[in-house]
Amino acid sequence: MTEQHATPVHRHEYQVPPYRVDSLELEFSLDEEETLVKSRLHICRNDGINPHEPLHLFGESMELLELSLDGKALRLGDYLLKSDGLSIALVPAQFTLEITTRLQPQLNTQLEGLYKSGGMFCTQCEAEGFRRITYFPDRPDVMSRYTTTVIADKARYPVLLSNGNPVERGDYDDGRHWVRWEDPFPKPSYLFALVAGDLACRRDTYVTTSGREVTLEIYTEHENIDKTAHAMASLKRSMRWDEEAYGLEYDLDIYMIVAVGDFNMGAMENKGLNIFNTQYVLASPDTATDTDFENVEAVIGHEYFHNWTGNRVTCRDWFQLSLKEGLTVFREQQFSAAMGSAAVKRINDVRILRNHQFPEDAGPMAHPVRPDSYIEINNFYTATVYNKGAEVIRMYHTLLGEAGFRRGVDLYFQRHDGQAVTCDDFLAAMADANNVDLSQFSLWYSQAGTPKLRVRDEYDPATQTYTLHVSQSCPPTPGQSEKKPFHLPLTVGLVDTDGKDLPLQLDGESHALDTAHRVLEIREAEQSFRFVNIPKRPRPSLLRGFSAPVELDYPYTAEDLAFLFAHDSDPFNRWEAGQRLMSDLLLEWTAKGIGKLPQPLLKAIQETLAHKALDAAFIAEAITPPTEAYLAEQMQTIDPLGIHASREALRQQLAQGLAKQWLSLYQELASDNTAYRPDGDGAGKRRLKNVALGYLSCLHSESEQTRCLEQFRQATNMTDQLAALALLADTEGEVADVALREFYERWQREPLVVDKWFRVQAMSKRSDALDRVVALIEHPAFELRNPNKVRALIGAFCQANPARFHAPDGQGYRFLADNIIALDGINPQIAARLAAPLSRWRRYDSKRQEQMKLELERILKTQKLSNDVHEIVSKSLA
Ligand code: ARG
Ligand code: ZN
Repeated sequence: MTEQHATPVHRHEYQVPPYRVDSLELEFSLDEEETLVKSRLHICRNDGINPHEPLHLFGESMELLELSLDGKALRLGDYLLKSDGLSIALVPAQFTLEITTRLQPQLNTQLEGLYKSGGMFCTQCEAEGFRRITYFPDRPDVMSRYTTTVIADKARYPVLLSNGNPVERGDYDDGRHWVRWEDPFPKPSYLFALVAGDLACRRDTYVTTSGREVTLEIYTEHENIDKTAHAMASLKRSMRWDEEAYGLEYDLDIYMIVAVGDFNMGAMENKGLNIFNTQYVLASPDTATDTDFENVEAVIGHEYFHNWTGNRVTCRDWFQLSLKEGLTVFREQQFSAAMGSAAVKRINDVRILRNHQFPEDAGPMAHPVRPDSYIEINNFYTATVYNKGAEVIRMYHTLLGEAGFRRGVDLYFQRHDGQAVTCDDFLAAMADANNVDLSQFSLWYSQAGTPKLRVRDEYDPATQTYTLHVSQSCPPTPGQSEKKPFHLPLTVGLVDTDGKDLPLQLDGESHALDTAHRVLEIREAEQSFRFVNIPKRPRPSLLRGFSAPVELDYPYTAEDLAFLFAHDSDPFNRWEAGQRLMSDLLLEWTAKGIGKLPQPLLKAIQETLAHKALDAAFIAEAITPPTEAYLAEQMQTIDPLGIHASREALRQQLAQGLAKQWLSLYQELASDNTAYRPDGDGAGKRRLKNVALGYLSCLHSESEQTRCLEQFRQATNMTDQLAALALLADTEGEVADVALREFYERWQREPLVVDKWFRVQAMSKRSDALDRVVALIEHPAFELRNPNKVRALIGAFCQANPARFHAPDGQGYRFLADNIIALDGINPQIAARLAAPLSRWRRYDSKRQEQMKLELERILKTQKLSNDVHEIVSKSLA
């Protein structure tokens, strides 16, 4: 391999920027063939910088037309032009630089920088997209005031948007018009945004606590504007919640959201002008599921919360990404928990962590929450930075308590508003505000890997004491063979034989605390906690609420688990007990062969179903066996087909053992005729109803298939329709095709619904799933250029259908590699993300290892492979 690939960037090489840009004026002339960007930068040398320090501006994939310094044109030789930017050797201490560049956004398939989606122009600048628009010190610690003028044809692009407030507009007599925007808040270039198009707008207002009126606007293509009501309501709830929970108000007079159909990620928090994937804005009962409604609310909240955690206080460099993302995901989780069922929210958060982050932490791409090096920063928008990062924030919250956490956040804003800072700064604010030493806690930022927490216990009836012995370890990860012990909160309760929480008094304390559980602070490799006045051996409920992102090892018996599943006062651990009960059985079946369902498990599920005090959404979670991905993580050598067969067998036996209960539950819930509302209560009931329908369809009878088809055809909302379609798509007969055809015919004009149609087929349990997916790549509705389509078909098949992806003939691997190669030339960021399932080849048997490795090697041999894919694949093979 003689090809040149980019070299890594290291966190420790950080240097302060030699020059700053206090303000700039941008002018965009947008057109179909080419776009001209004029930029005027007001630049100053920073204090203490050597006057001979050259000025470096990043720039890629554009044409430089003009460059002048203080009005004097520069010629090649006055400056140096390289593939990654331009430098000027000698510049004054203060000067104005004018730059004109030419772009072709209509050819930009990477969807970074300025590009076209549908008929509109839009931008994505995080992390390093601004350098594809103009030459600039494109790094987050350079913060500037932006004035942006957008010029375009008025008929085709009546709406022209950028950050901040609109200050002036006008018409030219050639049919073009212009709008000037001014953003009063200094910001890094990654928060710049521009939109131009023929868009419809939903407008509303919001009055902040201090009485300021803010205009709220959501823009989409005209045909979708009726699907934006939920997004608007979610935005208002987010604004209210941030005021109430954190005392944080919005700071501009206008807040805009634009929905675009081609988008690499979920959404982007550009100052005052969020740009969203349509998936997280548009929602109506007939085209969006309950989960879609929840996701819209969560992502709207997430991007809104970034206005403080990300925009007002931003990151010094991209190694600090979790400073804004971990904190904002945590805030989003708190918000969603407050809007619906906190227990179910927590269950889903932990499911995401375990299904996505734990495997990442156990694989070749494992990296700390604050990475030490990267080749392509886009590869580090990971579950580790986002979701484990959020768990780290949650641990501060658990260790310091609600009030202590809030003191820390307040101090963080007091110290750093308007600055670009580091994870260490956040930790220091938490420590200083609470007068605690968090130096050991900082290891959560630097050490990768999922720690293992081993707990053993001892009861002494003579002294009525109960002791927990806790030890921790962390497996080696790339570049980190030895780990130091972590500082973490272990929340525990002790449950007596009636299922009640015992008062908790540690040896040496004068009285028991008046709480059901308490937080034990773990700091050592080995530590013991002795509880006194414990009249009988209790059952420990450990790691309540999943108080730390660790793997817990405690020798629970099936009896213990059934008991906690029936009684634990902590809803998360109650769910967890059921999951452990099922996963212990499933792992045993996978290793030793499928057996008969133990009666206690059947009984436990039956009692949960009948439990009147539990809400429907919780029951639905509690009676669903652990995912195949989670089970896979528990195995030394993953047996994807074995896991699938065991899980299906469990579902089958539960279906048969409780057939009557499923039927009456289904009938009871299906007879509810109240109009669709996407609220927690309604969604929970639909969820439970559809879980029941799922068990019924495990009976594989013709009448059950008819029941499914009836629900599919008569459903009045997408949740019920899609749930039935997914079950039908799992069946081997022709009915699957009938339903799929009807669905497509009905919804072919709704791209987000067509995505669901692709996803359902990609995740089908049918034996011919891969053949169908391969055929669907040629379907006229499939587009390799559209990230949502790629995720719905290729991503879903390779990541969420392990039994078919890991087919013994290796065809799933070949399919994925072919598509990574095809996509790499179009959109390397998305191509690199697809590679994750292949990167974990070492976890499988030797035959699969060989097959997966061959595909990785084939990808690596591709001509002109992007840095994005090259980094993932070469690290996977290393
Ligand atoms: N900051 C965005 C968020 O809210 C993510 C944007 C990342 N985009 C990218 N191309 N890496 O999470
Ligand atoms: Zn974010």
